[in-house]
Amino acid sequence: MVPPLDWRTKDTYAPVTVSIVRELCAIVGEQHVIHGDPERLEPYSHDEVAGAEFAHLPEVVVKPGSATEISEVMRLAHRERIPVTPRGAGSGLSGGAIPLFGGILLSVERMDRILEIDRENMVVVVEPGVVTNDINEAVEPLGLFYAGYPMSVESCFVGGNVAENAGGGRAIKYGVTGHYVLGLEVVLPSGRMIELGGKRVKDVTGYDLLHLMVGSEGTLGIFTRIILRLLPVPGARTVLLVPFADVPTAVAAVPEVMTQSHLVPASVEFMDRLTIETAYDFVGEGLPHPEVGALLLIEIDGSSREQLEGQLDVLASLCLEAGALDVFVGSSASDERRMWRPRQMAAEAFKAVSPVQSIEDIVVPLAQIPELMAVLERLSSKYGVLIPCYGHAGDGNLHVTPVKPPEMPTAEWRDKIPALQTELYRAIALQGGTISGEHGVGSKRTEYLPLVLDPAVIELQRGIKRCFDPLNILNPGKIFRVEAAEGD
Ligand code: LAC
Ligand code: ZN
Repeated sequence: MVPPLDWRTKDTYAPVTVSIVRELCAIVGEQHVIHGDPERLEPYSHDEVAGAEFAHLPEVVVKPGSATEISEVMRLAHRERIPVTPRGAGSGLSGGAIPLFGGILLSVERMDRILEIDRENMVVVVEPGVVTNDINEAVEPLGLFYAGYPMSVESCFVGGNVAENAGGGRAIKYGVTGHYVLGLEVVLPSGRMIELGGKRVKDVTGYDLLHLMVGSEGTLGIFTRIILRLLPVPGARTVLLVPFADVPTAVAAVPEVMTQSHLVPASVEFMDRLTIETAYDFVGEGLPHPEVGALLLIEIDGSSREQLEGQLDVLASLCLEAGALDVFVGSSASDERRMWRPRQMAAEAFKAVSPVQSIEDIVVPLAQIPELMAVLERLSSKYGVLIPCYGHAGDGNLHVTPVKPPEMPTAEWRDKIPALQTELYRAIALQGGTISGEHGVGSKRTEYLPLVLDPAVIELQRGIKRCFDPLNILNPGKIFRVEAAEGD
């Protein structure tokens, strides 16, 4: 559901006039401004959320090349009260980078430099427009490793990862993006630049504003420089593909195998039958086992191949004891890439096969997953839609994805989906879960926040937003509704 705009209409904000465009051109250079050309503005009107109803055209796109330019754009927007929506690669799944109120779309795509690899301190300093995957390509030859691993690692920008506190496929062992953010240079909504943190691992000097910025969905500041902690690169890694006959057996195997093997895998990914069929077909592969009802993909890493060999044997026997139908072990790097591919492409596969859909990002305590499956079955028959499920079994973050059946009229789907989402979110709240584990609230889930957060907590968050952005010009309409302070 797209948040209604009645609480703050576009009229609250000043329009982007020709003279504002001229000023923006003077700041970032004419060739880095898009204005008055709907075809070139269109790619900036949406992210990866399916559904034209979520899209919104910006009035102007600017592509600054430096922190100073971003600061000047914000000063101008602040002076004129023009909304500014920061944007990374646009690979988000919550509508976070959509300019709901038009205004200025600020793309960091030109700020794509790896500024420093500091081997002595084991940190890397990057601009926000660096493709996340490129970080590892740059640091690996020096024996270093960036552990952030969103599934869209080949396309997403690190700035967006920090803004969403992206999780992904390695959170079970390595934690989410925020664990690796040591420092940020930030442009505040007023245009003022600040620095938070640095190259130090520990810091309890005052409130942790650094990690308040992490996951703030572009509503508190724009990151212009990011200092990330690196780890030693693992000497070896390998993958096990483990088919199970059904979901409860697969899910119950996760804590059992981990506890008994005394090791935390780097990844434990999950797919249900419908996802397996769709994703394997999408990548042109046959099913890994004829009776597969659920699949776990377990990646382990360590100092050497020899160390992993022993662990592989233990894991394989524990999986079989836990009811696995079979265990396939990756035998080469290309084999492992092939084993990962269907899981990595699951979201793409559903988008291609069922473009009218709602990819969810719920997270529940691990042991609740089988109960969640029962909820999905009930909702699926009540609403007459399929609800496949895949995601990060290691941490309970699941991309439940209601998809419109081909025979259902789109209008009926649009009527039904908010009721289905409300029921789903209520059920997961009762299970101790919440509505977003890694994609954020953005504009897609704003209306549902009260289902999972106490009003007092939402009010505190609004207070923080007002403190940073009293005019409500930075990414307005995201996370929750907030009124600009009166008299500003
Ligand atoms: C994934 C994305 C959708 O886990 O977060 O595939
Ligand atoms: Zn995910």
